[in-house]
Amino acid sequence: MSTATGPTATGHVPEYPIGTERLILRPLTAADAAPMHVYKSDPDAVRYVPYAPLELADVEQRIATTWSNTRFAKEGDAVSLAVEERATGALLGDVVLFWRGENDRSGEVGYILDPRAGGRGYATEAVEALLALGFEGLGLHRIVARIDERNTASAGVVERLGFRREARLVESSWFKGEWTTLLVYALLEDEWRERGAS
Ligand SMILES: CC(C)(COP(=O)(O)OP(=O)(O)OC[C@H]1O[C@@H](n2cnc3c(N)ncnc32)[C@H](O)[C@@H]1OP(=O)(O)O)[C@@H](O)C(=O)NCCC(=O)NCCS
Repeated sequence: MSTATGPTATGHVPEYPIGTERLILRPLTAADAAPMHVYKSDPDAVRYVPYAPLELADVEQRIATTWSNTRFAKEGDAVSLAVEERATGALLGDVVLFWRGENDRSGEVGYILDPRAGGRGYATEAVEALLALGFEGLGLHRIVARIDERNTASAGVVERLGFRREARLVESSWFKGEWTTLLVYALLEDEWRERGAS
């Protein structure tokens, strides 16, 4: 059973920081620019995300503008959060939750790790916290991830979290100079709650 009270998601102001077993998710600060630049400037790390390798000034500018939003006030808002290692305070990566539709109560997740932080389940743990934010906090009904089919590491993250692969959209996107086949993964609020209960 869905526990949301109405047909629409009506906005949410998250409480920060958001803690998980090994991580802290919190709003980005100007101090994140240098460690973030390390992976946002790495061509391999940004291969499947919607920007080219970024200069430090680009990262600083985005932290000060697009990535500074911390609340879901209206449909279309996105909240980007730093993923910090609880034990060391190191910046491991960042995640984003997009509020796509108010009427449909729909959202989308995005995530990137510093490659040096890969292979330890940190992305999965961070996105799991985003799901709680989306379903519990914002009252979403459905959260999707859209993934280049070559990006098997990214598909692994959402598959570990119980997302269903719903579609393979052949050459549906002209992305970074080539036709790209996208996989659409989705998770419903009820499916997420059932996983939590089992
Ligand atoms: C997508 C991305 C975040 C995935 O990173 P990742 O390290 O594979 O993901 P996780 O941090 O969840 O770690 C999972 C790996 O750690 C292993 N692992 C170790 N301890 C673990 C734990 N406690 N819990 C879960 N997995 C664990 C898993 O087995 C898995 O390894 P495998 O892929 O060899 O099976 C990373 O590849 C990345 O930043 N890519 C560039 C940006 C990008 O493409 N983003 C997605 C755009 S759609």
